[in-house]
Amino acid sequence: MSSVEYITYKGILLPQMDYSFENLNQMENEFQILDDDVINITYPKSGTNWMSEILGLISQKGDPTWTHSTLVWDRSPWIETNGGLQRALKNPPPRLLNSHVPFQLFPKSFLQTKAKVIYTLRDPKDVLISLYHFSMILKTLKYPGSLQEFLEEFLSGNVIYGSWFDHVKGWMELKGSPNFFYITYEELLQDLRGCVEKICQFLGKELSSQQIDSVVEYASFQKMKENKKSNFSELPDHVMDHKKGRFMRKGISGDWKNHLTVAQNEHFDRVYRENMRGMNNTFPWD
Ligand code: A3P
Repeated sequence: MSSVEYITYKGILLPQMDYSFENLNQMENEFQILDDDVINITYPKSGTNWMSEILGLISQKGDPTWTHSTLVWDRSPWIETNGGLQRALKNPPPRLLNSHVPFQLFPKSFLQTKAKVIYTLRDPKDVLISLYHFSMILKTLKYPGSLQEFLEEFLSGNVIYGSWFDHVKGWMELKGSPNFFYITYEELLQDLRGCVEKICQFLGKELSSQQIDSVVEYASFQKMKENKKSNFSELPDHVMDHKKGRFMRKGISGDWKNHLTVAQNEHFDRVYRENMRGMNNTFPWD
């Protein structure tokens, strides 16, 4: 339980298993982002795999054959992981790439390309709860302790991938640039079809109404929960404790209300306000 080690790369904590300084350095300084890459960026637990499924399905015009036969981390590798970077180098273009890294660690080559970034955000209180549960089942993550302890670590950015606030502020600086699109988990929940249409428009993909229906159907919580290539059930037992919980946990918004006390919630709000001061965005949870 406590043998899990993290490395600190440029101030950001990452699990030692799957991550290395050499690989992170290669990703940041040598990896070539290509003009036709579609890049799915999130802070962990914000809907990464959901967006990955949506993008995979859009790329196949709603046909689920690919998303049902190829593991999500092979379809859209996380470029900061050792295996993910190697996979990304092998995948033929046009590639789908995933990443959780804060903007300042993202491949430098990106800024010289027309690659498209989709940034998905989620209510940070739900991110906290989702990450708390995930930390209990994913064996590469440190045991989170009590929710009170984990809340403090989360609010001070002492968790994998660093501070939620810094992540959001860093990536949202790209707002307004033509190759950047952002969306929230809450919008996806409220109107998945409308969101898929907007994403298609951003990507310049023309799908028929039936093809969009198919994307929406196969990206639903229920269908993804059944998709072995997306539900993490194929992760080996030494990486994930399948007896303790599931990756496809609840898939709702506002679950934090079932977990945080009034005092914890008020504390969260205070830290949120302090950290987000000066940001001129209004999110569904504000
Ligand atoms: P919960 O733990 O709150 O259920 P990520 O992919 O970034 O790790 O995020 C995981 C979260 O997204 C989990 O949240 C998971 O249940 C949720 N999720 C995954 N696919 C989803 C879908 N199709 N619809 C709604 N939520 C989904």
